[in-house]
Amino acid sequence: MSKIVIIGGCGHVGLPFGVVLAGLEGFEVACLDVDQSKVDQVNSGVMPFLEVGIEPLLKEALLRKKFRATTDVIEVGTADIVITVIGTPVDRYQAPLLQDLNEHADATINRMKDGAMLILRSTLYPGTSKMVYDRIQRLNHKVHLAVCPERIAEGKALEELTTLPQIVGAFDDESMDKASQFFMRITKSVIQVTPLEAEIGKLLVNAWRYLNFAVSNQMYMMCTKSGVDFYRMYDAFKKDYPRMSSLPTAGFAAGPCLLKDTLQLCAFSNNQFFFGNSAVLVNESLPNFVLEQLADIDLANKRVAILGTAFKPESDDIRDSLAYKVRKLMCIYAKEVFCTDPYVDDPRLVPLDTALANADVIILGTPHKVYKDLTFRKEVRVVDVWGFWQLQNPPVFLTAPDSESEPESYALSQEKIR
Ligand SMILES: NC(=O)c1ccc[n+]([C@@H]2O[C@H](COP(=O)([O-])OP(=O)(O)OC[C@H]3O[C@@H](n4cnc5c(N)ncnc54)[C@H](O)[C@@H]3O)[C@@H](O)[C@H]2O)c1
Repeated sequence: MSKIVIIGGCGHVGLPFGVVLAGLEGFEVACLDVDQSKVDQVNSGVMPFLEVGIEPLLKEALLRKKFRATTDVIEVGTADIVITVIGTPVDRYQAPLLQDLNEHADATINRMKDGAMLILRSTLYPGTSKMVYDRIQRLNHKVHLAVCPERIAEGKALEELTTLPQIVGAFDDESMDKASQFFMRITKSVIQVTPLEAEIGKLLVNAWRYLNFAVSNQMYMMCTKSGVDFYRMYDAFKKDYPRMSSLPTAGFAAGPCLLKDTLQLCAFSNNQFFFGNSAVLVNESLPNFVLEQLADIDLANKRVAILGTAFKPESDDIRDSLAYKVRKLMCIYAKEVFCTDPYVDDPRLVPLDTALANADVIILGTPHKVYKDLTFRKEVRVVDVWGFWQLQNPPVFLTAPDSESEPESYALSQEKIR
């Protein structure tokens, strides 16, 4: 039986990973975390956040005594494999705090037993794993090191942990072999890279997504200012056109990773990652654009409802959510602001009915599925940057008749085609 300790183990990445590992033969898992309340909650079989399908597996793992959460760092000394998934330490400008990283690394390495393996699973500032490796050498510890960034999306952990190829980087063959064998227990394929490739590649993944959102957000703002309905154009040009298939809708690009990781690359490139910096300017300006869109009404006399405050649909995670930036602006300029979200636990929120009953203006903060079929009073002004609700005037879409029919029988559809 191999003992695994996950540091940061009650977080969004550590906990699903720990629960999945505990379900495999031959592993016993301890999720180590500094947050006592999360540890207690997890040990009582309750997830501290939404993650599809994980809670029943957590309960089962606890029952089988293959899993526990703990605050006791002593556990690190008895582990065969230590996995760190604490949040990337950054300052208030999202710049990396390398000193914190060093201190955390030293404390961990010093506690580990000889022959154990340390897997860095957090998203790292490029070069971090080399610093950790050098410290292992300097401290003369016999610890194997691998860097294996997590690539799951929140809400899809259970599905993606076991299906995505796992990226494994290491400085020596023995560590590469050990880490690869470990991940082959979880998924079907492992891709071996250098540690620096693993670090930069993970940041690239998130920056790429963030840049994609920025393109759509900028086009949305440009079109709206020009009197063009962005989503009518979007639907028309994306329909059956494969080269545009990856273009996302506009929306509040937020959450704990995309902005932070794009800025890590900006810092790493000594602020020469111009696309990254530009994407930040565009995405972070969308809440202010929402305010601009309401410039034609007397906002000071209007009640505003913000529907959805999580950073993405079907999530309860509000980290860096731009819906809160919209709220902040509305609190300054509107008469009253009502925020609602079916998943988020925040005393400032009101039930959906209350928000709707009071609203002169509705702003879609997060396109949760439960909002899809809502209908609003005619006089209510609706701002939907996501293009989630039905277009008033979708593009006309004709399909050719089959060969026997007359040309007049072109099928005409004004269905929403997105
Ligand atoms: N959230 C995601 O979808 C996602 C996906 C891929 C990668 N990542 C990366 O994974 C890392 C973790 O992200 P997360 O979303 O799980 O963060 P999180 O805040 O949800 O979890 C981190 C956990 O670490 C705990 N912690 C902090 N310092 C600790 C310490 N010294 N010892 C023990 N526990 C400690 C916290 O209490 C928290 O429970 C980050 O680097 C992030 O960029 C996140």
